[in-house]
Amino acid sequence: MTEPFANFQNEIYLGGLGEQRPAYPIAPQELERRAYEAMSPQARGYVEGGAGAGTTMRANRAAFDRWRIVPRMLNDVAERDLSVELFGHRYGAPVLLAPIGVQSIVHDDGELATARAAGSLDVPFVLSTAASHAMEDVAQAAGDGPRWYQLYWPNDAELTRSFVSRAEASGYSALVVTLDTSLLAWRPADLQTAYLPFLQGIGIANYLSDPTFLAGLEKPPAEDMISAILKWVGVFSNPGYTWDDLAMIREATDLPIVLKGILHPDDAGAAVEAGVNGVIVSNHGGRQVDGAIGALDALPAVVDAVPEDFPVLCDSGIRTGSDAIKAIALGARAVLLGRPFVWGLALGGEEGVRQVVRGFLADLDLSLALSGHRSLATVTRDILGPAPE
Ligand SMILES: Cc1cc2nc3c(=O)[nH]c(=O)nc-3n(C[C@H](O)[C@H](O)[C@H](O)COP(=O)(O)O)c2cc1C
Repeated sequence: MTEPFANFQNEIYLGGLGEQRPAYPIAPQELERRAYEAMSPQARGYVEGGAGAGTTMRANRAAFDRWRIVPRMLNDVAERDLSVELFGHRYGAPVLLAPIGVQSIVHDDGELATARAAGSLDVPFVLSTAASHAMEDVAQAAGDGPRWYQLYWPNDAELTRSFVSRAEASGYSALVVTLDTSLLAWRPADLQTAYLPFLQGIGIANYLSDPTFLAGLEKPPAEDMISAILKWVGVFSNPGYTWDDLAMIREATDLPIVLKGILHPDDAGAAVEAGVNGVIVSNHGGRQVDGAIGALDALPAVVDAVPEDFPVLCDSGIRTGSDAIKAIALGARAVLLGRPFVWGLALGGEEGVRQVVRGFLADLDLSLALSGHRSLATVTRDILGPAPE
């Protein structure tokens, strides 16, 4: 059996005996505060900002706060198994790192650092199409570590197929198709600084390394970057896609397909109908539709709308181990950690991500045990009660 995640706690306390303290903040609020202080104003706006008035970012957190865990005692939680099966793979914990684009704006190593940290912990990460490094380079950094690829579905079938086949060839074992970003939302922080990294050629490495994309350019990007960027603007997305168009992706791959951005139960039903393999309940961390429903609020109805064995994952607002427990109790098979690992990346690159993820897993393991559970099997809706009004 592998070492319990909770052992990170002992490691920290024992370090204290030798005057060693954690290099980065442990409390999520302090980690967040310090990370934003360390970022350039533009990077901060991009990572911290949400759509519109930030209503949905607040709704994401408020949704977790409306539930309370009711712990059970004397259940023998000495040995625990947090593992979960997803698409034929058994992962050590129900936690993945969410696809987050343009990570080089907070740390030069960007996704390479995240992939190294995730790989060293055997935690799956989801690489964004909008990454600062090409998917092949990130795959190499991950080593044997589990990895999924997130597709921003281009307005071009051939480029879509090219991205998918490159992801397959470089060992990404599932394809996450993000549906909620067919247009970029109205994001005041980025608008105020007139900042969109892609227009500076940052976060388009997967395009600039793609044979199909490059074949459509008259001159290589090294000679004419502006034309490459303009081409990117034209192919990034297609708001005209419908459910029928998903066949394009289904036919392009045998990888499991997971649709990200599902909030309505009827869309969850449509996903099942379309023959995909899972969904992620997400509002993109409140960055797309301001006023959209909190992700955790949307989760139970989505879970009820799909067959029992159909994987439903969840992100948006997950900050602590008990947040993950609440999402799992409401029917999520696993959760995706988003902004918190980017805060770690900003402060300490690979090591910063590793500390944040180890801390999250230790917190989850301890909270699960102290709530009276040895595995996720008993983490069901009846372990939750409503928070008092
Ligand atoms: C800076 C930033 C960039 C993101 N980039 C992507 C992306 O490229 N693709 C994607 O599917 N989601 C992207 N997301 C959304 C995340 O995958 C995830 O849904 C979100 O971060 C969850 O909210 P939380 O971080 O507040 O928990 C991004 C989120 C942030 C904060």
